[in-house]
Amino acid sequence: MNITQPNYITIRLAQPQDRNRIFDIQRDAIQRLCSRDYSPEQIQGLLNDKHLDNWQGEDTKEIVLVAEIGETIVGFSAYSRYWVNAVYVDPKYVRQGIGTQLLKAIESDALSENINTLAVCASITAKPFYEGSGYQEFGETYILSSTGIHIPCIRMQKWLSSTTEGEQPPSDFLTAICRFLQWILIGK
Ligand SMILES: CC(C)(COP(=O)(O)OP(=O)(O)OC[C@H]1O[C@@H](n2cnc3c(N)ncnc32)[C@H](O)[C@@H]1OP(=O)(O)O)[C@@H](O)C(=O)NCCC(=O)NCCS
Repeated sequence: MNITQPNYITIRLAQPQDRNRIFDIQRDAIQRLCSRDYSPEQIQGLLNDKHLDNWQGEDTKEIVLVAEIGETIVGFSAYSRYWVNAVYVDPKYVRQGIGTQLLKAIESDALSENINTLAVCASITAKPFYEGSGYQEFGETYILSSTGIHIPCIRMQKWLSSTTEGEQPPSDFLTAICRFLQWILIGK
């Protein structure tokens, strides 16, 4: 996958050598963007259990994309089957449509895999972003960090296609979202 977007943003599959830059963006976005919505303790919980901490670029179950301007990675996104696992943008590059393009690229890839719905446990920080991309809220929940910190988030979902064909999510969909996210974050 290599999609050239407007404004000279290119989106491509992440490579193992992108790992450090991905981690830096994730850390900076959590510290600088999420800190207005979460306490220092919750921020530390998010940092401790960062998604992709164990990512080596070889996991075929999870699709990880990066957005580049020139040769600089400015954001990344990740999904696996029905779940958006991450969308993070370098704080220096927010509000330029990069997050939206990363999310659209995930949605397009999911549709190409015949997956017609995506869900996310959105951070409070990212709720307006997901709403702007057509995700609907299904209530509040929380992630329990590995150190026992409750981190509130919001269940959201988007139907990507109005057709009834393709794979559908399990019936206990919303419960599964949170179990899955907890599994991603803390492996339990
Ligand atoms: C959420 C995030 C990925 C958005 O990235 P971005 O590149 O700034 O998003 P976009 O520029 O595509 O924003 C699209 C729209 O979303 C909404 N939006 C995005 N950030 C917003 C904010 N902080 N407050 C209000 N609305 C926001 C706006 O409607 C925006 O359109 P506009 O700029 O024309 O008003 C980025 O802020 C981020 O990395 N946040 C911290 C990490 C995080 O919480 N990730 C989600 C984990 S579930």
